[in-house]
This record gives sequence, structure tokens and C-alpha cells, in this order.
Amino acid sequence: MRTRTRTRTRTRTRDPQTLGGTGTLERILAARNIDRAAVTAVNDEPEPRSALEAMSAGMPPRYRHAEADHPKVLAWVHEVARQAVAPSVGARRQVATGPSLLLAGVVGAGKTHQAYGAVRALVQSGVGVRWRATAAADLYAQLRPRTGVDSEQQLAAVARCPLLILDDLGAAKASEWVEEITYRLINRRYNHMLPTLITSNLPISDLRGYLGDRVTSRLAQMTTRVEFDTVDRRRQRAA
Ligand SMILES: Nc1ncnc2c1ncn2[C@@H]1O[C@H](COP(=O)(O)OP(=O)(O)OP(=O)(O)O)[C@@H](O)[C@H]1O
Ligand SMILES: [Mg+2]
Repeated sequence: MRTRTRTRTRTRTRDPQTLGGTGTLERILAARNIDRAAVTAVNDEPEPRSALEAMSAGMPPRYRHAEADHPKVLAWVHEVARQAVAPSVGARRQVATGPSLLLAGVVGAGKTHQAYGAVRALVQSGVGVRWRATAAADLYAQLRPRTGVDSEQQLAAVARCPLLILDDLGAAKASEWVEEITYRLINRRYNHMLPTLITSNLPISDLRGYLGDRVTSRLAQMTTRVEFDTVDRRRQRAA
């Protein structure tokens, strides 16, 4: 018992002393037979690695390794990265404003895959990205008025997020309330020119019937439409 206490005391007092002066780190490493270059290599690991890891951790496993390869999606990544701005002198450039995409196609065409792939490509380009992803139906469920939940605050948080994936727009049951929430969300992002990746199975004419003219007019201006082959990749893979 006494021996352990003594050992701990010795360790505590020794480390801060030896790490203080110039050249002492080299002496410690040499004494412990540790290669200085190896230590430097570990410390010099580039910061984007952790940014990528953090991004991957926030993605659903199915899309964690998605790579965007659609030319319109890659062009969008390039443009959003170009418009990124540094919040202060010397700070990393952050996604700020930019165009949006409407990824439209049949079930299983690869829309969500391209959307997550686009976020990955943006992070890989080196800009800072604060992003969120939600299925439209999940968002409506979250925002249903309930006691103890500030749904106005939740809507505001999603609406002002610098980059949003709004997945499966048009998949939830239509209602005046759904139309109003979608209008408020899209209108806010339209006004502030916030990049938004929207996926939908609905053709534009059906979207108009579902969401009304106010939303579809804004979508027409703020998004570029990305079309997909009419192939369900899930069934293709199964076959
Ligand atoms: N470019 C791709 N390379 C490899 N796998 C892909 C690619 N695109 C999609 N997939 C895979 O195909 C399946 C369907 O893709 P995804 O979920 O993106 O389709 P979707 O268009 O969003 O479908 P839904 O309309 O039902 O939401 C997924 O398993 C996805 O990982
Ligand atoms: Mg999808």
C-alpha cells in the first residue's frame, strides 16, 4: 500500500518538471527509446480527418460511406463550397448561402444516397458544414403541438440550419397543417438562400397539388432539379 502511494507521488512530481524546458522532450523520448519523428507524425495528423469522422458519426449507417457521383450534385457541391465564408479573419470558411437541389425520382433510385454523398463531398472539400437531415414525415411528427415541446423553437432550428437534407418531401399525408409548416420552412430557407437538399418521389405537378403554389414557386426558383434513372436499386441488388 505504502509502495503504491510513493510511486504515484513520484510520477506526479516528475512529469510536469521534465516537460518544462527547451530540449527536455527530446531527452525524455530518447531515454524511453521513442522515435521523435513518429511522435511528430501523430501530432501533425490533418484536422479534416476528425471533421470527416464527426460527419460520418452523424450519418445513418446505410449512407455513411455514400459517394455523390451525379454531375449536378457535384456541381452543387462546388458552388456551395465556393460561396462559403469565414466568420472571422483566419477562421475556417463555413457553408453560408448557396443554391438548393430537388432530387426527384422513383423509389430506390439513389436520391438519399446522393444527398448524404453531397454532404460528405462538402466536408472533404475542407469547408465547415453545420448540417441536419430529416425525413419530412419525421419533421411533421416532431412539430405536432404537444405539451412540454416548443415546436416553434424546433422549426426555427431546422429552418435556419446552414445545410438541410429534407428527405422524402411529399411522402406524408397531405393536410393544411403540413402545407403551412412546409411553407414556413421553405420560405425561411428561400429568403435566407440556405442550401437545401430535397428528395421526393413526386413529379412536380403532384408536388404543386400537395404543397400548393407558394411552396412550388419558391422551389422552382431556389432548386435545380436532379433526375434519376427509373430503376429501383434495392430490387436491382436483390436480383
Ligand atoms: N450510387 C450508388 N452507389 C451504390 N449504391 C447506391 C447508389 N445509389 C444508391 N445506392 C443504394 O441503393 C439503395 C437505394 O438508394 P436510396 O435509399 O438513396 O434511394 P432513394 O431514391 O432515396 O429511395 P426512396 O425514394 O425509397 O427513399 C440504397 O441501399 C443505397 O445505399
Ligand atoms: Mg430516400
